Amino acid sequence: VSARRPLHPVELIERTRDGDEPSGEEIAALVAHYVAGEVAPEQMSAWCMAVVFRGLSDPGTEALCQAMVESGRQIDLSALGRRVVDKHSTGGVGDKTTIALAPLVAACGVPVAKMSGRGLGHTGGTLDKLESIPGFRVALGVEEMIEQVERVGCAVIAQTADLVPADRMLYALRDVTGTVPAPALIAASVMSKKIAAGADAILLDVKVGDGAFARDLGTARELARLMRAIGEQSGRPTVTELTRMDEPLGRAVGNALEVAEAVEMLQGGGPEDLAELVLASAGRLLALSDLGVDEAEGRRRAVDAVESGQAVSALERWIDAQGGDPGLGDDPWSVLERAPVRVEVRASHAGVVQRVGALAVGRAAAALGAGRRRPGEDVDHAVGVVVEVGRGDRVARGDVLAEVHARDAAAAEHAVERLQGAIVIGDEPVAALPVLIETSG
Ligand code: URA
Repeated sequence: VSARRPLHPVELIERTRDGDEPSGEEIAALVAHYVAGEVAPEQMSAWCMAVVFRGLSDPGTEALCQAMVESGRQIDLSALGRRVVDKHSTGGVGDKTTIALAPLVAACGVPVAKMSGRGLGHTGGTLDKLESIPGFRVALGVEEMIEQVERVGCAVIAQTADLVPADRMLYALRDVTGTVPAPALIAASVMSKKIAAGADAILLDVKVGDGAFARDLGTARELARLMRAIGEQSGRPTVTELTRMDEPLGRAVGNALEVAEAVEMLQGGGPEDLAELVLASAGRLLALSDLGVDEAEGRRRAVDAVESGQAVSALERWIDAQGGDPGLGDDPWSVLERAPVRVEVRASHAGVVQRVGALAVGRAAAALGAGRRRPGEDVDHAVGVVVEVGRGDRVARGDVLAEVHARDAAAAEHAVERLQGAIVIGDEPVAALPVLIETSG
């Protein structure tokens, strides 16, 4: 196999560094040898750094992605006899979209089979959020996942060990070598997982802002374009939406708090930005499915599923199938654990909320224990922050800006201090900004 031919990693590193991009075959060989333990981690991280500075061409990025897909098992979902849709977010603060969207789309008759990740640093992960539901199992095998999708319409599971091992190795390496933010590396990482997991059509939520990997619109657009190109090349229709991550999505940040907010959205309530993103994304996923509807009709069906209660029923079937208490759909707090200490953050002066910093709120929640400092640590599912105001809101002195949910008083006090800095109040009249920036594909 050409991917296993003799390789001179130093030469490939130097050529990439100097802007003489290796061929697709050479990139494929580099990945194959790295996964086999024949390219040292320091060499692979040097190559990643060369890509951070020099970038990769589209064919180079596609070759990298394909080599990553081929490093492990590829799931075949054709037994379902349907077009299976998948959705992925590049990561942000308060992003509980999947927990509402998966059952909502299933309620509309479209199968959803999704592999999700855990949070790291200031960003949350869907698996951690779901595990705040006592008994919920994320470690389903592929056969079990397919059976569950057939029976209840959706499944959200952890990435299995044999799926895209190249991504697991590379991501861990990039995370500790300052080589995460290269559009080519992120695009290959995200799309290799989507392709190996067997999705027929993909919706990608590319987050933009200080709480996201892509901090500016130009980087986000490039990332979105690259991922669409890879999707097209692999024959899987891929739509990207660019969404704002300067402020947290919704109000709740923290695992159980976010699950409760997602349920609230399916019950017909919850914050407007979350409902808007979930309903718009549902419309897009239904349009990508085999139902033969356009986005507007897809959105109408999603709204109907919420209003008729079918979305909550689908959520209950899904939670029950994965071992959780379906009572969550009716009353989330009868199932979820609440943190013992709650402290309000109040405005020190009157004015207009200029910004609620996503990164700072994410860090405050992580420091409370909602996130991990190192991979493999346990998270505290009950703790977090509920932000009560958004950009453009007028507040009086003493108004509640946020509520901290903590394990103890010392942790709460620390979080209150951080949030005083994260929520900026000024005199300028500013307007709230829509969550969706643009859609393509
Ligand atoms: N999410 C991924 O799965 N991979 C990246 O590289 C960045 C975000």
